[in-house]
Amino acid sequence: MTASGKIKIVEVGPRDGLQNEPMMVPAAIKIELIERLAQAGCKTIEATSFVAPDRIPQLADHEEVFTSIKPYPDVSYPVLVPNMRGFNNALAAGVKEISVFGAASETFSQKNINCSIGESIQRFTKVITAAKAHDMKVRGYVSCVLGCPYEGEIRPQVVADLAGQLYDLGCYEISLGDTIGVGTAKKAQKLIDIVSQKVPINYLAAHFHDTYGQALANLFAVIQLGIRIIDSAVGGLGGCPYAVGASGNVATEDVIYMLNGLGFNTGVDLQKLIKASYFINDYLNRKPTSKVALAYLRKI
Ligand code: HMG
Ligand code: MG
Repeated sequence: MTASGKIKIVEVGPRDGLQNEPMMVPAAIKIELIERLAQAGCKTIEATSFVAPDRIPQLADHEEVFTSIKPYPDVSYPVLVPNMRGFNNALAAGVKEISVFGAASETFSQKNINCSIGESIQRFTKVITAAKAHDMKVRGYVSCVLGCPYEGEIRPQVVADLAGQLYDLGCYEISLGDTIGVGTAKKAQKLIDIVSQKVPINYLAAHFHDTYGQALANLFAVIQLGIRIIDSAVGGLGGCPYAVGASGNVATEDVIYMLNGLGFNTGVDLQKLIKASYFINDYLNRKPTSKVALAYLRKI
């Protein structure tokens, strides 16, 4: 592996991290978390979701949060958008970048966004067309890429087909979500081998949850194949209400520590990031799951 150059970090803590919290986090805390992440050098911070408030009440304050974030010329704040209703709300709030989110599992698609995979593509086509007309960038997610909470095994070819459709529709990046964190390194590599036959590897992002403690190993494995975009959540927060039992995303602190050791440049200040992690975990009244953050507190 030539461990050089840049790796882009997409910080998903304020969205993926907080969407699954039993505690309602006030908008002011979310806004401060996002500001702390920007101060730590995160350049892409997924801020919230313009989804139905009764489905994800944790992010029902999306408009207040988004319109209160401090803008910086070099920081982007993408938001999740499931349909035209969400798109119009996001546009009205001044959003510049959105993410559409589909799944490689029919059952998960139904539970999560209340439509089939085929119907989701029709919805995304409308959303992406509208976004392009407003000069908005669109990212695409594929969930359940290494397993589904309802259907179990998912064939890599199904992931590749959906990722390819999102790419053809004009998504500038396709994030592959191990939503329930069941993947292992060899499977993750096989997935990237197959998906990269449909989507150039530099368009692919790894979005790995850490349920079985494999996320860092899986990231290391896919970096070896050329993946250079990683989604992670400060403090290891995260989960999806439609993937019960799955744990948080890989912690950004752990990812940065690993990438620093490998010689990659991420532009993220680890100490400031760890402080942001304690800020949100203190509010949630618990310790970060990140071993790096815990070691930092013990001054190791
Ligand atoms: P639906 O029920 O099919 O929508 O929801 P509908 O069109 O039938 O509308 C039902 C009601 O919701 C209506 O209100 C709509 O106006 C309203 P009513 O007329 O009954 O009062 N509505 C909305 N309100 C605000 N914003 C909207 C919106 N759309 C409809 N955008 C929908 C479809 C997709 C909206 C719904 O199922 C939903 O919001 N799902 C939430 C999905 C979600 O956010 N999941 C978590 C994120 S995905 C994830 O975590 C995985 C990821 O991290 C990657 C990985 O780890 O794999 C990305
Ligand atoms: Mg996720």
